[in-house]
Amino acid sequence: MIEFKRVSFWYTEEDTLLEKGSEVLQNLNLIFPKGEFVVILGRNGSGKSTLAKHFNGLLLPKRGEVLVEGMSTQDENHLWDIRQKVGLVFQNPDNQIIATTVEEDVAFGPENLGLPPAEIRQRVDQALEMVDMMDYKGKEPHLLSGGQKQRVAIAGVLAMSPEYLVLDEATSMLDPEGREELMGVLLKLKEVVTIVHITHHVEESILADRLMIMDGGEIVIDSSPREFFASSPEIEKWGLELPQIPEIAWRLKKKKPELFKDRFPLQIEELVEALCLL
Ligand SMILES: Nc1ncnc2c1ncn2[C@@H]1O[C@H](COP(=O)(O)OP(=O)(O)OP(=O)(O)O)[C@@H](O)[C@H]1O
Ligand SMILES: [Mg+2]
Repeated sequence: MIEFKRVSFWYTEEDTLLEKGSEVLQNLNLIFPKGEFVVILGRNGSGKSTLAKHFNGLLLPKRGEVLVEGMSTQDENHLWDIRQKVGLVFQNPDNQIIATTVEEDVAFGPENLGLPPAEIRQRVDQALEMVDMMDYKGKEPHLLSGGQKQRVAIAGVLAMSPEYLVLDEATSMLDPEGREELMGVLLKLKEVVTIVHITHHVEESILADRLMIMDGGEIVIDSSPREFFASSPEIEKWGLELPQIPEIAWRLKKKKPELFKDRFPLQIEELVEALCLL
Protein backbone atom coordinates (compact mmCIF):
# COMPACT_ATOMS: atom_id res chain seq x y z
CA MET A 1 0.00 0.00 0.00
CA ILE A 2 1.09 3.56 -0.72
CA GLU A 3 -0.26 6.19 1.58
CA PHE A 4 -0.31 9.98 1.24
CA LYS A 5 -0.84 11.56 4.66
CA ARG A 6 -1.75 15.23 4.71
CA VAL A 7 0.66 15.87 1.85
CA SER A 8 1.19 19.44 0.73
CA PHE A 9 3.76 20.58 -1.77
CA TRP A 10 4.79 23.88 -3.32
CA TYR A 11 7.72 24.75 -5.53
CA THR A 12 10.23 27.02 -3.85
CA GLU A 13 12.47 29.69 -5.32
CA GLU A 14 15.19 27.25 -6.36
CA ASP A 15 12.64 25.33 -8.44
CA THR A 16 11.05 28.27 -10.10
CA LEU A 17 10.76 31.90 -10.98
CA LEU A 18 7.00 31.68 -10.57
CA GLU A 19 5.03 33.32 -7.80
CA LYS A 20 5.98 31.46 -4.65
CA GLY A 21 3.78 30.12 -1.94
CA SER A 22 0.96 28.65 -4.00
CA GLU A 23 0.33 25.03 -3.06
CA VAL A 24 0.54 22.62 -5.96
CA LEU A 25 -0.59 19.68 -3.79
CA GLN A 26 -3.10 20.61 -1.12
CA ASN A 27 -3.27 18.45 1.97
CA LEU A 28 -3.77 15.15 0.15
CA ASN A 29 -4.92 12.09 2.07
CA LEU A 30 -4.85 9.12 -0.28
CA ILE A 31 -4.48 5.38 -0.08
CA PHE A 32 -3.38 3.18 -2.97
CA PRO A 33 -3.89 -0.45 -1.93
CA LYS A 34 -2.00 -3.22 -3.69
CA GLY A 35 -3.61 -4.76 -6.73
CA GLU A 36 -5.60 -1.78 -7.95
CA PHE A 37 -5.50 -0.24 -11.39
CA VAL A 38 -6.06 3.47 -10.70
CA VAL A 39 -6.42 6.16 -13.33
CA ILE A 40 -5.84 9.79 -12.37
CA LEU A 41 -7.27 12.44 -14.67
CA GLY A 42 -6.89 16.19 -14.57
CA ARG A 43 -6.42 19.28 -16.68
CA ASN A 44 -3.04 20.85 -17.50
CA GLY A 45 -1.39 22.24 -14.42
CA SER A 46 -3.69 20.48 -11.96
CA GLY A 47 -0.67 18.90 -10.20
CA LYS A 48 -0.59 15.39 -11.71
CA SER A 49 3.13 15.25 -12.47
CA THR A 50 3.96 16.77 -9.11
CA LEU A 51 1.87 14.03 -7.51
CA ALA A 52 3.53 11.34 -9.66
CA LYS A 53 6.98 12.37 -8.48
CA HIS A 54 5.90 11.96 -4.86
CA PHE A 55 5.26 8.23 -5.28
CA ASN A 56 8.96 7.34 -5.20
CA GLY A 57 10.57 10.32 -3.54
CA LEU A 58 11.64 12.24 -6.66
CA LEU A 59 9.87 15.08 -4.89
CA LEU A 60 9.37 15.18 -1.14
CA PRO A 61 6.32 16.61 0.64
CA LYS A 62 6.78 20.06 2.19
CA ARG A 63 4.18 19.01 4.78
CA GLY A 64 2.90 15.53 5.60
CA GLU A 65 4.41 12.28 4.37
CA VAL A 66 4.25 9.60 1.70
CA LEU A 67 4.58 6.03 2.94
CA VAL A 68 5.45 3.14 0.62
CA GLU A 69 4.71 -0.10 2.47
CA GLY A 70 5.19 1.89 5.64
CA MET A 71 8.51 3.45 4.55
CA SER A 72 8.60 7.24 4.42
CA THR A 73 10.02 8.75 1.22
CA GLN A 74 11.68 11.33 3.47
CA ASP A 75 13.84 8.66 5.07
CA GLU A 76 17.04 8.46 2.99
CA ASN A 77 17.75 4.97 4.30
CA HIS A 78 14.63 3.70 2.55
CA LEU A 79 14.92 5.58 -0.72
CA TRP A 80 16.70 2.74 -2.52
CA ASP A 81 14.06 0.20 -1.44
CA ILE A 82 11.27 2.58 -2.35
CA ARG A 83 12.68 3.25 -5.82
CA GLN A 84 12.91 -0.50 -6.40
CA LYS A 85 9.29 -1.01 -5.36
CA VAL A 86 7.86 1.93 -7.30
CA GLY A 87 8.74 2.29 -10.98
CA LEU A 88 7.97 5.52 -12.83
CA VAL A 89 7.30 5.84 -16.55
CA PHE A 90 7.20 9.28 -18.13
CA GLN A 91 5.69 10.94 -21.16
CA ASN A 92 8.54 10.88 -23.64
CA PRO A 93 9.92 7.40 -24.39
CA ASP A 94 12.94 8.89 -26.17
CA ASN A 95 14.19 10.28 -22.86
CA GLN A 96 13.94 6.89 -21.17
CA ILE A 97 15.72 4.66 -23.66
CA ILE A 98 19.47 4.67 -23.47
CA ALA A 99 20.98 1.53 -24.99
CA THR A 100 21.48 0.58 -28.62
CA THR A 101 19.29 -2.52 -28.64
CA VAL A 102 15.95 -3.24 -27.00
CA GLU A 103 17.42 -6.12 -25.04
CA GLU A 104 20.35 -4.10 -23.69
CA ASP A 105 18.03 -1.30 -22.74
CA VAL A 106 15.77 -3.53 -20.67
CA ALA A 107 18.82 -5.23 -19.12
CA PHE A 108 20.29 -1.92 -17.96
CA GLY A 109 18.42 -1.78 -14.64
CA PRO A 110 18.93 -5.41 -13.57
CA GLU A 111 22.62 -5.14 -14.54
CA ASN A 112 22.97 -2.21 -12.17
CA LEU A 113 21.48 -4.35 -9.43
CA GLY A 114 24.43 -6.67 -9.97
CA LEU A 115 22.26 -9.70 -10.67
CA PRO A 116 23.76 -12.86 -12.19
CA PRO A 117 23.62 -12.98 -16.02
CA ALA A 118 21.13 -15.86 -16.13
CA GLU A 119 18.69 -13.98 -13.94
CA ILE A 120 19.15 -10.82 -16.00
CA ARG A 121 18.32 -12.72 -19.18
CA GLN A 122 15.28 -14.24 -17.56
CA ARG A 123 14.02 -10.88 -16.29
CA VAL A 124 14.56 -9.24 -19.67
CA ASP A 125 12.63 -11.97 -21.50
CA GLN A 126 9.84 -11.93 -18.99
CA ALA A 127 9.53 -8.13 -19.14
CA LEU A 128 9.57 -8.06 -22.96
CA GLU A 129 6.97 -10.82 -22.99
CA MET A 130 4.71 -8.83 -20.68
CA VAL A 131 4.72 -5.79 -22.98
CA ASP A 132 4.46 -7.88 -26.19
CA MET A 133 7.87 -6.78 -27.47
CA MET A 134 9.73 -10.09 -27.54
CA ASP A 135 9.93 -10.02 -31.35
CA TYR A 136 11.91 -6.78 -31.16
CA LYS A 137 14.53 -7.96 -28.72
CA GLY A 138 17.52 -7.41 -31.00
CA LYS A 139 16.19 -4.28 -32.70
CA GLU A 140 17.54 -0.77 -32.35
CA PRO A 141 15.14 1.31 -30.25
CA HIS A 142 15.27 4.32 -32.56
CA LEU A 143 13.66 2.24 -35.31
CA LEU A 144 10.56 1.57 -33.20
CA SER A 145 7.26 3.47 -33.18
CA GLY A 146 6.45 5.72 -30.22
CA GLY A 147 4.14 3.12 -28.73
CA GLN A 148 6.74 0.39 -29.08
CA LYS A 149 9.40 2.59 -27.48
CA GLN A 150 7.07 3.32 -24.60
CA ARG A 151 6.49 -0.41 -24.12
CA VAL A 152 10.26 -0.96 -24.05
CA ALA A 153 10.53 1.78 -21.42
CA ILE A 154 7.88 -0.04 -19.37
CA ALA A 155 9.75 -3.33 -19.82
CA GLY A 156 12.86 -1.61 -18.46
CA VAL A 157 10.93 -0.71 -15.32
CA LEU A 158 9.32 -4.15 -15.05
CA ALA A 159 12.73 -5.81 -15.24
CA MET A 160 13.40 -4.26 -11.84
CA SER A 161 10.45 -6.29 -10.46
CA PRO A 162 8.55 -3.31 -9.07
CA GLU A 163 5.37 -3.72 -7.07
CA TYR A 164 3.93 -0.41 -8.24
CA LEU A 165 4.02 1.13 -11.69
CA VAL A 166 3.25 4.85 -11.93
CA LEU A 167 2.80 6.19 -15.46
CA ASP A 168 2.75 9.96 -15.98
CA GLU A 169 1.05 10.73 -19.31
CA ALA A 170 2.76 7.71 -20.85
CA THR A 171 0.18 7.63 -23.65
CA SER A 172 0.08 11.32 -24.44
CA MET A 173 2.74 11.33 -27.18
CA LEU A 174 1.36 8.22 -28.90
CA ASP A 175 -0.97 7.91 -31.87
CA PRO A 176 -4.39 6.26 -31.27
CA GLU A 177 -3.04 2.86 -32.28
CA GLY A 178 -0.03 3.13 -29.97
CA ARG A 179 -2.27 4.27 -27.14
CA GLU A 180 -4.63 1.37 -27.61
CA GLU A 181 -1.78 -1.14 -27.62
CA LEU A 182 -0.32 0.39 -24.50
CA MET A 183 -3.68 0.27 -22.73
CA GLY A 184 -3.94 -3.41 -23.70
CA VAL A 185 -0.56 -3.98 -22.09
CA LEU A 186 -1.63 -2.17 -18.90
CA LEU A 187 -4.74 -4.31 -18.61
CA LYS A 188 -2.53 -7.37 -18.77
CA LEU A 189 0.00 -5.94 -16.32
CA LYS A 190 -2.62 -5.09 -13.74
CA GLU A 191 -2.67 -8.76 -12.87
CA VAL A 192 0.93 -8.60 -11.66
CA VAL A 193 1.59 -5.03 -10.58
CA THR A 194 -0.34 -2.18 -8.97
CA ILE A 195 -0.83 0.55 -11.58
CA VAL A 196 -1.35 4.29 -11.23
CA HIS A 197 -1.93 5.65 -14.72
CA ILE A 198 -2.03 9.43 -15.08
CA THR A 199 -3.62 10.70 -18.25
CA HIS A 200 -5.88 13.35 -19.70
CA HIS A 201 -7.54 10.83 -22.06
CA VAL A 202 -10.69 10.15 -20.06
CA GLU A 203 -11.56 7.00 -22.05
CA GLU A 204 -8.45 5.33 -20.65
CA SER A 205 -10.16 5.25 -17.25
CA ILE A 206 -13.07 3.11 -18.36
CA LEU A 207 -11.47 -0.23 -17.56
CA ALA A 208 -9.74 0.94 -14.38
CA ASP A 209 -10.75 -0.23 -10.91
CA ARG A 210 -10.74 3.32 -9.63
CA LEU A 211 -10.92 6.77 -11.17
CA MET A 212 -9.59 9.92 -9.58
CA ILE A 213 -9.81 13.47 -10.85
CA MET A 214 -7.32 16.06 -9.78
CA ASP A 215 -7.98 19.78 -9.92
CA GLY A 216 -6.06 22.62 -8.33
CA GLY A 217 -3.84 20.23 -6.38
CA GLU A 218 -6.77 18.36 -4.83
CA ILE A 219 -8.46 15.06 -5.60
CA VAL A 220 -12.01 16.14 -6.40
CA ILE A 221 -13.33 12.71 -7.47
CA ASP A 222 -12.42 9.24 -6.19
CA SER A 223 -14.87 6.67 -7.51
CA SER A 224 -15.35 3.56 -9.58
CA PRO A 225 -15.49 4.52 -13.27
CA ARG A 226 -18.98 3.08 -13.70
CA GLU A 227 -20.45 4.93 -10.73
CA PHE A 228 -18.76 8.10 -11.86
CA PHE A 229 -19.93 8.02 -15.48
CA ALA A 230 -23.43 6.89 -14.46
CA SER A 231 -23.77 9.91 -12.17
CA SER A 232 -24.18 12.35 -15.06
CA PRO A 233 -20.90 14.02 -14.33
CA GLU A 234 -20.27 17.59 -15.37
CA ILE A 235 -16.78 16.67 -16.30
CA GLU A 236 -16.20 19.86 -18.34
CA LYS A 237 -15.73 21.87 -15.17
CA TRP A 238 -12.50 19.95 -14.59
CA GLY A 239 -11.34 20.59 -18.15
CA LEU A 240 -12.16 17.05 -19.30
CA GLU A 241 -14.48 15.48 -21.85
CA LEU A 242 -16.83 12.52 -21.54
CA PRO A 243 -15.68 9.51 -23.55
CA GLN A 244 -17.76 8.57 -26.58
CA ILE A 245 -19.86 5.70 -25.19
CA PRO A 246 -20.89 7.37 -21.89
CA GLU A 247 -21.63 10.51 -23.91
CA ILE A 248 -23.93 8.60 -26.30
CA ALA A 249 -25.51 6.75 -23.39
CA TRP A 250 -26.33 10.03 -21.68
CA ARG A 251 -27.86 11.49 -24.84
CA LEU A 252 -30.08 8.42 -25.15
CA LYS A 253 -30.97 8.58 -21.47
CA LYS A 254 -32.08 12.20 -21.77
CA LYS A 255 -34.67 11.08 -24.33
CA LYS A 256 -35.61 7.90 -22.42
CA PRO A 257 -34.78 8.24 -18.71
CA GLU A 258 -35.64 4.59 -17.98
CA LEU A 259 -32.65 3.40 -20.00
CA PHE A 260 -29.58 1.74 -18.43
CA LYS A 261 -31.11 1.34 -14.95
CA ASP A 262 -29.26 -1.95 -14.34
CA ARG A 263 -25.92 -1.06 -15.79
CA PHE A 264 -24.70 2.18 -17.29
CA PRO A 265 -22.74 1.26 -20.44
CA LEU A 266 -19.10 2.27 -20.70
CA GLN A 267 -18.06 0.19 -23.69
CA ILE A 268 -19.58 -0.30 -27.12
CA GLU A 269 -20.46 -3.95 -26.39
CA GLU A 270 -22.36 -2.97 -23.25
CA LEU A 271 -24.24 -0.26 -25.11
CA VAL A 272 -25.22 -2.63 -27.93
CA GLU A 273 -26.32 -5.25 -25.43
CA ALA A 274 -28.48 -2.79 -23.48
CA LEU A 275 -30.09 -1.48 -26.66
CA CYS A 276 -30.79 -4.97 -27.99
CA LEU A 277 -32.75 -5.75 -24.82
CA LEU A 278 -35.24 -2.97 -25.60
N1 LIG B 1 9.60 22.79 -11.56
C1 LIG B 1 8.58 23.61 -11.31
N2 LIG B 1 8.79 24.81 -10.79
C2 LIG B 1 7.76 25.64 -10.52
N3 LIG B 1 6.48 25.37 -10.76
C3 LIG B 1 6.21 24.19 -11.30
C4 LIG B 1 7.24 23.25 -11.60
N4 LIG B 1 6.65 22.16 -12.14
C5 LIG B 1 5.34 22.41 -12.14
N5 LIG B 1 5.06 23.64 -11.64
C6 LIG B 1 3.74 24.25 -11.46
O1 LIG B 1 2.97 23.41 -10.62
C7 LIG B 1 1.64 23.29 -11.09
C8 LIG B 1 1.33 21.83 -11.33
O2 LIG B 1 2.18 21.33 -12.36
P1 LIG B 1 2.20 19.82 -12.80
O3 LIG B 1 3.26 19.67 -13.82
O4 LIG B 1 2.28 18.98 -11.59
O5 LIG B 1 0.76 19.67 -13.45
P2 LIG B 1 0.19 18.55 -14.45
O6 LIG B 1 -1.18 18.28 -13.97
O7 LIG B 1 1.14 17.44 -14.55
O8 LIG B 1 0.11 19.32 -15.83
P3 LIG B 1 0.20 18.74 -17.32
O9 LIG B 1 -1.15 18.17 -17.64
O10 LIG B 1 0.50 19.95 -18.14
O11 LIG B 1 1.30 17.71 -17.36
C9 LIG B 1 1.55 24.16 -12.32
O12 LIG B 1 1.03 25.40 -11.94
C10 LIG B 1 2.97 24.30 -12.77
O13 LIG B 1 3.19 25.50 -13.42
MG1 LIG C 1 2.13 16.50 -16.13
